[in-house]
Amino acid sequence: MAAMSQKRSCGEIMNEFKEFMWNPRTREFMGRTASSWGLIVSFYLVFYAFLTGMFALSMYVMLQTIDEYTPKYWDRLTSPGLMIRPKTDTLEIVYSISGNSSWAPYVSQLNSMLDPYNDTVQMQQGSVCPSGVFNKQDDTGDVRNYPKKACQFLRSSLGDCSGLTDPTYGYSTGSPCLLIKMNKIINFYPGVIPSLSNTSITINCTGTTANMDQMLGSRTYYPSSNPSNGTSNGTSLGTMDLMYFPYYGNRAQKNYSQPLVAVKFYNLTLNQDLYVQCRANAVNINTNDSQDKFSGRVSFKLHINK
Ligand SMILES: *[C@@H]1O[C@H](CO)[C@@H](O)[C@H](O)[C@H]1NC(C)=O
Ligand SMILES: *[C@@H]1O[C@H](CO)[C@@H](O)[C@H](O)[C@H]1NC(C)=O
Ligand SMILES: *[C@@H]1O[C@H](CO)[C@@H](O)[C@H](O)[C@H]1NC(C)=O
Ligand SMILES: *[C@@H]1O[C@H](CO)[C@@H](O)[C@H](O)[C@H]1NC(C)=O
Ligand SMILES: *[C@@H]1O[C@H](CO)[C@@H](O)[C@H](O)[C@H]1NC(C)=O
Ligand SMILES: *[C@@H]1O[C@H](CO)[C@@H](O)[C@H](O)[C@H]1NC(C)=O
Ligand SMILES: *[C@@H]1O[C@H](CO)[C@@H](O)[C@H](O)[C@H]1NC(C)=O
Ligand SMILES: *[C@@H]1O[C@H](CO)[C@@H](O)[C@H](O)[C@H]1NC(C)=O
Ligand SMILES: *[C@@H]1O[C@H](CO)[C@@H](O)[C@H](O)[C@H]1NC(C)=O
Repeated sequence: MAAMSQKRSCGEIMNEFKEFMWNPRTREFMGRTASSWGLIVSFYLVFYAFLTGMFALSMYVMLQTIDEYTPKYWDRLTSPGLMIRPKTDTLEIVYSISGNSSWAPYVSQLNSMLDPYNDTVQMQQGSVCPSGVFNKQDDTGDVRNYPKKACQFLRSSLGDCSGLTDPTYGYSTGSPCLLIKMNKIINFYPGVIPSLSNTSITINCTGTTANMDQMLGSRTYYPSSNPSNGTSNGTSLGTMDLMYFPYYGNRAQKNYSQPLVAVKFYNLTLNQDLYVQCRANAVNINTNDSQDKFSGRVSFKLHINK
């Protein structure tokens, strides 16, 4: 209490402050001598120079390991997923043959999906590749092999499902086409199953039960492993040729076109919920991952009314 009431005059405070700024007796500036300040300044100079150097060095080392053409962490996804087009949120294709507005959205989705596959476009941007051989274009040491060539996938190879001969893709007659695509995975080399095909991985679609499969009736795939026997049940499979693998990523291979498989249901049962599963057949594609229901397969519902 006593100390608090001890009042110092304004002049005293000013003097104390002046002495703190510059004390002529001890030759101290703000409480430190010149050599003390010198040490502090040089310490921080060295310290920050060191930090800057460390930062620059680690930046440099990081940049050395980045390849501008391949994402560093591409190997997280190991087995590709399947998806259908036309796609709806619920994976249900429901329409009435007689109500053309009910299937018009499906047709327009397929039209826009297939636009980049037009033969004229593909012939410009893609190469003709030998069938059944991986389109491998690795770099030789430090010599970069960019841009990498992409193989043509011609819209006309989808036959009746190309939209070229039948502009409604069969929707207007109750024999709809669906397109199946497989997620692109960089540097993925699918392994064929020799009993099915030696040049392609295969895709087939079946009813979820034997009875359901019967109600789905005959179906054809494009492109197919057995084109002349297209409409027979079970004997033909959709194919994705090995030439479309591996995919090198969007920067390295910007002309790449994803292969597609079309399936056309010729004779499915009308006015009935039909549950279909399409599956990729390859030695290294997992089709029974319980965590990921799209891994190597896709399930959907068809319901077509008169
Ligand atoms: C749908 O059908 C109606 C009558 O049959 C016709 O006038 C119309 O042009 C059709 N719309 C389309 C998109 O085909
Ligand atoms: C692709 O072909 C379709 C049908 O011939 C045509 O309507 C469409 O405009 C073409 N698209 C491109 C991008 O060439
Ligand atoms: C990619 O496509 C364009 C035409 O769209 C073509 O000029 C170019 O040569 C193609 N690139 C490669 C590597 O094939
Ligand atoms: C694949 O090749 C093996 C061995 O050459 C042959 O036995 C088999 O029949 C071929 N598979 C097909 C589908 O042609
Ligand atoms: C066709 O797909 C079903 C499941 O969707 C599968 O059980 C069957 O083995 C496949 N058939 C062939 C020949 O791959
Ligand atoms: C088509 O199937 C028939 C019988 O199912 C068979 O005799 C014929 O060889 C097949 N054609 C081809 C090109 O595989
Ligand atoms: C396909 O299978 C269905 C049902 O099993 C049968 O009715 C139909 O005749 C078969 N079609 C062909 C071409 O074998
Ligand atoms: C179409 O399916 C029905 C029954 O599902 C069957 O009786 C008929 O034989 C099939 N027709 C063809 C051409 O496959
Ligand atoms: C499917 O699952 C079984 C058991 O969960 C496993 O033994 C089998 O290898 C799996 N098949 C594939 C193709 O992953």
